[in-house]
Amino acid sequence: MATAGKVIKCKAAVAWESNKPLTIEEIEVEPPQANQVRVKIVATGVCRTDLFYLYETENKDLFPMVLGHEGAGIVESVGPGVTEFQPGDKVVPLIVSQCRECRFCKSPRTNQCEKAWDVVPHNVSTAPTSKLNCRGKKLLQFMGISTFSQYSVVNQIALAKIDPAAPLEKVCLLGCGICTGFGAAVNNAQVEPDSTCAVFGLGAVGLAAIMGCKYAGAKRIIAVDINADKFEKATEFGATDFVNPKDHDKPISKVLSEMTNGGVDFSLECVGDVKLMRSALESCVPAWGVSVIVGWTDKEDFCARPTDLISGRTWKGSIFGGFKGKDGVAEMVQAYMNKKIKLDEFITHNMPLDHINEAIELLKQGKSIRTVLSVSPQ
Ligand SMILES: NC(=O)c1ccc[n+]([C@@H]2O[C@H](COP(=O)([O-])OP(=O)(O)OC[C@H]3O[C@@H](n4cnc5c(N)ncnc54)[C@H](O)[C@@H]3O)[C@@H](O)[C@H]2O)c1
Ligand SMILES: [Zn+2]
Ligand SMILES: [Zn+2]
Repeated sequence: MATAGKVIKCKAAVAWESNKPLTIEEIEVEPPQANQVRVKIVATGVCRTDLFYLYETENKDLFPMVLGHEGAGIVESVGPGVTEFQPGDKVVPLIVSQCRECRFCKSPRTNQCEKAWDVVPHNVSTAPTSKLNCRGKKLLQFMGISTFSQYSVVNQIALAKIDPAAPLEKVCLLGCGICTGFGAAVNNAQVEPDSTCAVFGLGAVGLAAIMGCKYAGAKRIIAVDINADKFEKATEFGATDFVNPKDHDKPISKVLSEMTNGGVDFSLECVGDVKLMRSALESCVPAWGVSVIVGWTDKEDFCARPTDLISGRTWKGSIFGGFKGKDGVAEMVQAYMNKKIKLDEFITHNMPLDHINEAIELLKQGKSIRTVLSVSPQ
């Protein structure tokens, strides 16, 4: 590649401060160093977690930052020590790394990678290690990825190689939301055939959770959302019943308990609201219900009565649907190519990167499921 070893000037959407629209800037992207890969980002989705860090986080040290973590692209060049990737490979950057060597990677009990904490400390990369610069300032690489940029540099442990035939403008969604929801049902909740499930929140993550419940053989899937516009889409993914909390005076857990003779077998919270996490737990049958927290927040504590768990319920959390990064993405790309899972149906809007603020507004207002932004020409 003519650009290998050189700084690349390209376009990116920069978040200079919280609560402000992103601005399209020309940025400089440094060449990859040892164990790093420079990727041309072709397409990216916009996930609610991007909005959380733009609008809700109290950590002001994150800015300026390039958001975006649900992308797909093509390897442009690799740094020393990289053997797994070559220029031209199709790839998906990972929010959950997989080094394959650490004790976490070697254990089937987790999808966390111990090395990720050195490479991508606490979900957001620190600015000094960033390879993205603009107007003389380092731009923090969100989750060590930054897919709202035409080029980005990621560590090789945070990159999955995928089928060269995969359409990047679709499989970008496997970088976060769809693996997250689907895996939360299949891997974390371990939904069983003929079971009854409840999914709270019908964004891409919740709809993917519904898809996972159906895939695992659930016979009844109750979709819960305060936005009734989402119910039609949920049917496409396998929901059998709908509950709008706004239509009821009593707690939603009571409503679900009455509908299901004592509570659902599995519930998944896909909103990121601590009160709803409790409702989801209380909606499960006390004897064996499993409730999985998928929605993201680090602002508040949650609470529940000890007896809710003592009675026999299990409360757990899920990051990236329990999928090990490299293996999970490659597997889910194949599942899509073999028509075992849906992806196209999540995409409600397509637009160029320049329209990113519009895409953010659509998600904020509950008018989109996923907008796919085209970032670089292929
Ligand atoms: N754990 C992970 O690895 C992981 C990964 C990706 C996203 N997330 C999180 O998952 C959540 C969902 O993401 P998304 O992109 O699907 O978001 P989204 O905004 O598209 O969907 C959220 C849905 O929740 C609904 N909702 C809001 N308040 C509600 C309430 N009180 N009761 C019922 N429904 C309610 C909204 O109407 C909307 O349909 C976010 O919190 C996101 O940060 C977690
Ligand atoms: Zn590891
Ligand atoms: Zn996400």
